[in-house]
Order: sequence, then C-alpha cells, then structure tokens
Amino acid sequence: MRILGIDTSCDETAAAVVEGRRILSNELFSQIPIHAQWGGVVPNLAKRAHEEKIDSVINSALEKSKTPINTIDTIAVTYGPGLSIALGVGIKKSKEIAKKYNKKLIAVNHMEGHIYSCFAQNKSGKSDINFEFPYLVLLVSGGHTELVLFKDHTYYEILGKTVDDAAGEAIDKGTRLILDNKVYPGGPILEAMSEKGDPKFIDFPRPMARSTDFNFSFSGLKTSLFYALKQMGDRERINNQNNLAASYQMAVIDSLCIKMRQAMKKTGVKNICVAGGVAVNKLLRDKMRILVERNGGRILFPLKGLYGDNAAMIAVAGYFKAQKGLFVESIDSLDRVPRASLDKLEKF
Ligand code: KG4
Ligand code: ZN
Repeated sequence: MRILGIDTSCDETAAAVVEGRRILSNELFSQIPIHAQWGGVVPNLAKRAHEEKIDSVINSALEKSKTPINTIDTIAVTYGPGLSIALGVGIKKSKEIAKKYNKKLIAVNHMEGHIYSCFAQNKSGKSDINFEFPYLVLLVSGGHTELVLFKDHTYYEILGKTVDDAAGEAIDKGTRLILDNKVYPGGPILEAMSEKGDPKFIDFPRPMARSTDFNFSFSGLKTSLFYALKQMGDRERINNQNNLAASYQMAVIDSLCIKMRQAMKKTGVKNICVAGGVAVNKLLRDKMRILVERNGGRILFPLKGLYGDNAAMIAVAGYFKAQKGLFVESIDSLDRVPRASLDKLEKF
C-alpha cells in the first residue's frame, strides 16, 4: 500500500511517500530561517510559507519515490494538534488531491505520527522491528511533552503531560536567557554549549520529582534560571555560559528521566520509545538507554531524520490506521483540530 503523507502542523512543510512502513521519499521545506529572527514561530508567516511550498514539496515527494499521483492508494494528513492556520493548508491540499484523483483520506494525529516515527523503515527495509506491545512512549518536542502508554495500534493512553511549558520550549527559552538573544531553536545550541560545561555548576530543581503522577512542569525551572542569571554579574554570566547550559540541560533531561523511571516502575512496562525533536539530544538518549538496560527492556528511537517534524511518520501512522479501516468517511467534514489529543482520536 502506497501512502502520501502530508504535515503542515507547525513550521515545516512536509510530504512523504511510504510503502507500508518503508519510506520511499521524505521531503521537507523548513521554515526555521523565516522564524529564527523572531525567536519563535510566527503563525501568519508559517501559513504563507506552507501555501507557497506545499505543491513543490508534494511533487518532489512523488517524483523521488517514482510514484505518479494517480497510483497512490491513499493520503494521510495531520489534522492536529498544531497551529490552526498552518494545519489548514495541508488539510485543504489533501482534500483537493483526494477529490481530484478519487482517493481515500486518513486523518492522523501529529503525536501519533511521532510515535510511529520509531517504527518506520528506511528505503531498504532496515529497522524491521516487530511490535511488542505495550510501550511507554516519551514524546518531547517544542510544543508537547507527554508520557503515553501505547497499548496497541491506534490505542493510546496519556499517563502524564506537562502542566505548563513543553520540554523543548523550556530548552528554547532557557537558551535565550543564557545567551541573552533570540536564537531559535535553542536545543542544538544548548546541547553544544553543554558539552563544554559543568552540569554541577548550579543544582537546578527537578520539578515534580516527588509528585506521584506522571506530569511534568518546566516553568519553575526557567524561573530558577532567570534568578540565577540575575544574581550574576555580566562578566560572570558570559564566562559561565557553558556551565549554565550544562546545568540547565541536565535539570530538564533529569526531570524527563525521573518520570519515565517512575512510570516504568508503576506500569511494569519495559519497552520504551522516545520521540520528537528533543529526543535527538544525546544526554537524554544515553540516560534513557541506561534506564532501559537496567530493566532488561528495549528502547526505540526514530530513524535518523525523523526526530523533528516530517511527513513520513504521518504516512506510516496512516498505514496502520488504513490496516484497521480507519479512513475519513466524509471528506468535507475533515477539519483541523488544533488542540487534538491522543486520548480521543477524532473521527471525520
Ligand atoms: O519535534 P520538533 O522538531 O518540533 C515540534 O513539533 O515542536 O521539536 C522541536 C524542539 C525545539 O524545542 C528544539 O529546540 C528541540 O526540539 N531540539 C533539541 C535538540 N534539537 C532540537 N532539544 C535538545 N537537544 C537538541 N539537540
Ligand atoms: Zn512535532
């Protein structure tokens, strides 16, 4: 089954073609340079860029996979969560194609896509993982931090989520505070600085470490960083940027690992997945690996290139939904759901 995937949920215009869970093409136009100067995603600019690029990104995904558009079996598109006006661009385009070529549509939750990014295969079929349900999935991106029990295909239970900022957001904001400028995204910069710094320089709090639920909170940590910086003189702050970065990064990553450890203990689930843009972070990966090895489970990360937003993960999730016959029943009723949750998958 050949599926065209489309995602325009945030700041990447993405299209991909998969055959089952094998990725044949995965195309992306990144808007990061457009938003970088503003220190974050500007919705109007995102919408315009999606509209300008969507046709060429889709055409290139079809061409690179050598798939004439009339030969695709179905189209999987992200309906949410995400930026409302950005989501609308991908949905509108998928409806146009579905109507023009008489194709079925599959509505995919963006976070569902991030989960399935751990189960995608490259072109030559590498990473042929057998599903061993259940999995504990940590989804960590710029907009979301969720701990999910992945019970079976398309069955998810959210065990916990952030009560304020997402982990990626905390990382982005913290990096801006440390550097005192508007860099975006902060993650890769914070990670590079941290490698040269001392994580013990400041012992930042590990928010929610003692709570018995699986929720996360990062806004207090950001405030601690703010006050730590305020107490330092300009020179001291500049001289210690790497130390500040390493200490802050350690606190964010530790908070994620503490909750995963608690969840593994409480649920008895040994196999875990870590996905989303923040999952590319080496410290996070190493610490999670240690957690899993101790318990004799298996850890899965996305294939290279599938950590951040992409459409291959949407198409792969779409494939498993297609296996269950979960197609959109009425194309006209398909609509964006900016606050969509994995607990309650929408039906159209
Ligand atoms: O999944 P993603 O690409 O987009 C969203 O859906 O949000 O995640 C983006 C987030 C940003 O907050 C970015 O700073 C963070 O992932 N990130 C990282 C790293 N690379 C990107 N965080 C920590 N370490 C990294 N190396
Ligand atoms: Zn995402």
